[in-house]
Amino acid sequence: MAYLRVLSGPDEGKKIPVEPDKSLCLGRADVDYIKLQDPLLSKVHCEFAARKGAFFVSDLASSNGTYLNDRKISTCPIKSGDRIRIGGSIVEFVEEHAAAVQEELLVLDREVADTLISRSIGDYQVQAKIGRGEVGTVYRAFQSSKNRLVAMKVFFPDVMHDEASMQRFLRGAQTASRLRHPNIVKVFATGRYQDLLYVVMELVDGGSVAQMMEERGISGTIDARKTMDVAKQALRALSYAHAQKIVHRNLKPSNILIDRKGVARLADLWLSKSLDSPDINLITRTGMHLGSLSYIPLEQMVDAKMVDQRSDVYSLGATMYTMLTGRPPYSGPAAEILRAARAGEFADPKKVNMSVPEDLGGIVVKAMQKMPERRYQTAAEMLADIEKVEKALGL
Ligand SMILES: Nc1ncnc2c1ncn2[C@@H]1O[C@H](COP(=O)(O)OP(=O)(O)O)[C@@H](O)[C@H]1O
Ligand SMILES: [Mg+2]
Repeated sequence: MAYLRVLSGPDEGKKIPVEPDKSLCLGRADVDYIKLQDPLLSKVHCEFAARKGAFFVSDLASSNGTYLNDRKISTCPIKSGDRIRIGGSIVEFVEEHAAAVQEELLVLDREVADTLISRSIGDYQVQAKIGRGEVGTVYRAFQSSKNRLVAMKVFFPDVMHDEASMQRFLRGAQTASRLRHPNIVKVFATGRYQDLLYVVMELVDGGSVAQMMEERGISGTIDARKTMDVAKQALRALSYAHAQKIVHRNLKPSNILIDRKGVARLADLWLSKSLDSPDINLITRTGMHLGSLSYIPLEQMVDAKMVDQRSDVYSLGATMYTMLTGRPPYSGPAAEILRAARAGEFADPKKVNMSVPEDLGGIVVKAMQKMPERRYQTAAEMLADIEKVEKALGL
């Protein structure tokens, strides 16, 4: 088991696990997948990944470089004890006995999971764990005053570092709680329990598109009819949110929940950022999940401020791509994904799965254009095209 220890810089003392099967990126981007606060870092600065049992560090075209033991590098193997300087921070790479580190990493999750179940948090009785995401754990809970079951997402303690980011999060969630749409998961409340922040939302009895894909196994796909049905519902939700100047920013298969009746709901809109309140800076994720990178448009990777409704069009297009072909549009280490995304290179969905109807493949490709001006400009425009294809196919 390996990890990075921040020896100096704003995140001094922080310990970041490096997993052999997952690449890890460091940078200072203010959404999603990044770990460090250092203002001298590039948004996406460098990557740690294992190849054939050895760990490597790679610079991701950062503006002020990545130094390994004081030598500027582009890609280099690393060993335990090596020091990597990025921006104003120094991190040490440490490899140690698997069991000990695993133990330490599990503490967080265990602490949260075990101590919360069957506990009462305010009005809520926590019943069971539903799942674990990148920023927290989702539980099923019973709200006695309303006599209803709810979903409760409890954030990992290290996700929100300071009072200011907590306040920003609470404001963001408050904006989300005003949204009322049949295809959006309702946010009921937010709260704080000891040091833990949580958000209470509508419980969707079903599973996510990501789970649907998992159940189908490797190269399992979702057919055109179902994909269009889910996409249309998602687009109606997006149209509604966009009209209120709210961009989802985090649309991906695990954030589309489908209940037993087939109604799709977008989750995690609390992560969204109201376009006219640029101060709602989002929380920093504790772990970069490569799976998510395929769903983030290039402009959002480069500069979170450039995000607008067309970024959601991209994310939905990429989600449809995965549904139809059984694999995300981009894969491999982060450096490779970034290169391909910059070049706008992904395999034509019709070539990956020949049963994808021509016109539907065309919609996905248009939604996923690298330049926002070449995509559908609104969710409504994309919805109209899907309806046309549905009609033409007689679905
Ligand atoms: N409102 C909800 N109702 C039911 N299940 C939910 C709800 N929100 C999230 N989940 C489930 O909880 C798990 C973790 O969700 P989350 O923390 O948002 O992970 P991710 O970062 O992958 O989206 C997922 O499996 C998701 O399907
Ligand atoms: Mg989610």
